[in-house]
Amino acid sequence: MKVGVVGATGEVGRTMVKVLEEFDVPVTELRLFASERSAGKELEFKGRKIRVELLTEDAMKWKCDYFLFSAGASVSRKFAPIASENGATVIDNSSAFRMEKDVPLVVPEVNSHLLEGYTGIIANPNCSTIQMILSIYKLHEVYGIKEIFVATYQSVSGAGRKGIEELLAQERGENISKVFPKPIHRNVIPLIGDIQDNLFTQEEMKMVNETRKILNDYSIKVYPTTVRVPVLYGHSEAIMVRFRKPFESLERVREVISSGEDVVVTDELITAVDVTGKNETYVCRLRAGDENTILFWNVADNIRVGAATNAVRILLKHAKMNGRM
Ligand SMILES: NC(=O)c1ccc[n+]([C@@H]2O[C@H](COP(=O)([O-])OP(=O)(O)OC[C@H]3O[C@@H](n4cnc5c(N)ncnc54)[C@H](OP(=O)(O)O)[C@@H]3O)[C@@H](O)[C@H]2O)c1
Repeated sequence: MKVGVVGATGEVGRTMVKVLEEFDVPVTELRLFASERSAGKELEFKGRKIRVELLTEDAMKWKCDYFLFSAGASVSRKFAPIASENGATVIDNSSAFRMEKDVPLVVPEVNSHLLEGYTGIIANPNCSTIQMILSIYKLHEVYGIKEIFVATYQSVSGAGRKGIEELLAQERGENISKVFPKPIHRNVIPLIGDIQDNLFTQEEMKMVNETRKILNDYSIKVYPTTVRVPVLYGHSEAIMVRFRKPFESLERVREVISSGEDVVVTDELITAVDVTGKNETYVCRLRAGDENTILFWNVADNIRVGAATNAVRILLKHAKMNGRM
């Protein structure tokens, strides 16, 4: 199949190219796009060097099977509809189309049925939402989730290459503060995205709205606090879930979470550093509050589970379900 990657030189785009190779996606032609800053650079795919092209409207008319977009919401808004109108299925990592009624918002382990017979734009959820969903979707099927209280500990790579560079610069003693609203080196910042009218941030409202859309249950209440921490890769989340039905035992809860795909429940202590480069979401420190309430620690590689791997898994499921491979 023919695949294009828009934003191929970014943290997520580069990882998409790697994951396409690692998952052995049968790509016959791969084209890579970025801005004038990176056009002409070369990236490697399956031992071959591929030159990065300048993103143009004309390039989006390429008759290919899939475009993976990862260059920010404004780029997606402008270019993804052109690619889609010209016949490609678009898998978009930005927030541009996630809440549009007719656009499926997909975590393939959870709601891939939406991909059957669908062509057009498919939205990849926000990174902190994806890893949370992977640890709770089976619990929702069995016990019915009533409320979720979550505090995130999100790495600087969640803000892209420039987020990583800002932390590294501050570690070297340089006084640069462009990406984060306060110094991030040796600090913790409880603000990701702009504050909305209801005093929650954009990032927090993504967790509320996207969770409900993916689980297709608008009665679930989600109470998030999203926080940036000086970690390079890997988001962590302290999650408390209240069920409608009481659970039998923690052992049974553990079995239910583990029955989900691409989630690992463990007694080991797992931290962000341990999950870098992994394609699974990890759950540890599982505890009972009362008979309806559990608490646990959730960790995943935000660039993979939260973006690139989810997008490639969507591509594979879509291709299989629609006779493209
Ligand atoms: N990082 C995460 O954890 C994460 C998770 C989920 C979703 N996302 C989403 O994925 C997208 C990319 O994130 P990232 O972390 O990879 O960011 P990044 O490291 O800053 O990379 C941005 C990419 O977009 C390209 N780009 C920017 N403006 C462009 C333009 N006008 N025309 C063409 N290409 C342009 C850049 O190309 P140049 O090299 O030419 O600048 C680069 O390839 C964002 O929408 C982000 O919200 C990120």
